[in-house]
Amino acid sequence: MSTPTLEKHSDALDAAESGASHLITVTLRIRRFNSEVSDEANWIDYQLDIDPKERVLDALHKVKWEIDGTLTFRRSCAHGICGSDAMRINGRNRLACKTLIKDINPEKPITVEPIKGLTVLKDLVVDMDPFFQAYRDVMPFLITKGNEPTRERLQSPEDRERFDDTTKCILCAACTSSCPVFWNDGQYFGPAAIVNAHRFIFDSRDEGGEQRLEILNDKDGVWRCRTTFNCTDACPRGIEVTKAIQEVKRALITRRF
Ligand code: SF4
Ligand code: FES
Repeated sequence: MSTPTLEKHSDALDAAESGASHLITVTLRIRRFNSEVSDEANWIDYQLDIDPKERVLDALHKVKWEIDGTLTFRRSCAHGICGSDAMRINGRNRLACKTLIKDINPEKPITVEPIKGLTVLKDLVVDMDPFFQAYRDVMPFLITKGNEPTRERLQSPEDRERFDDTTKCILCAACTSSCPVFWNDGQYFGPAAIVNAHRFIFDSRDEGGEQRLEILNDKDGVWRCRTTFNCTDACPRGIEVTKAIQEVKRALITRRF
């Protein structure tokens, strides 16, 4: 294996496109917060040499393992599945493990900060309890009325297709924490909870749709959505979040789902 060499940004970015391994120097500007040290968050710059084909998560690991072990962030799978490393990178909600350095203009400092609308506990870690409470409130599980099956609950491919998009959610909170309604008033259920309600409301095997619709008919439910599309833009799974919210609104009006 060849040893990576340190290059000018433009050469290294060209090399990254061709698949070769070269290092560039980048500045990671991270918003740090530690309530035991200060009541205020502050931005700290870290310079590191990295292959532009690596991800922001790799850069954060480099900072933590080689520069400052106190840096705190969540991650688990490192492959876009667990949803634990949603953060604001260059002002946009993304998964750090799915964001390549070469794709986010490494010529300038790369800003990394926690997602908005949830209380910051330390550095990039936020309190996810309100987010998961909203998820629990919409009853994200199959509800049936006492007809114990003797075999699998069958469903046609067309009926399965009806909610296919919303099955892809990984509960990363990128959508909910990009929603201005949620920023202003943390009481709103938020896009992720509605997406997960949608996944069961439109499942032909489920019998809890009416209950879920009533929950979302609340003053803090779907009607708070202002259709800004921030959620759809933020979703790393490509889920049409705004469309799912609109479908739930329509189901509430027509009671057809
Ligand atoms: S809908 Fe998309 S952005 Fe929202 S929690 Fe699910 S995967 Fe994350
Ligand atoms: S670490 Fe699991 S989604 Fe990024």
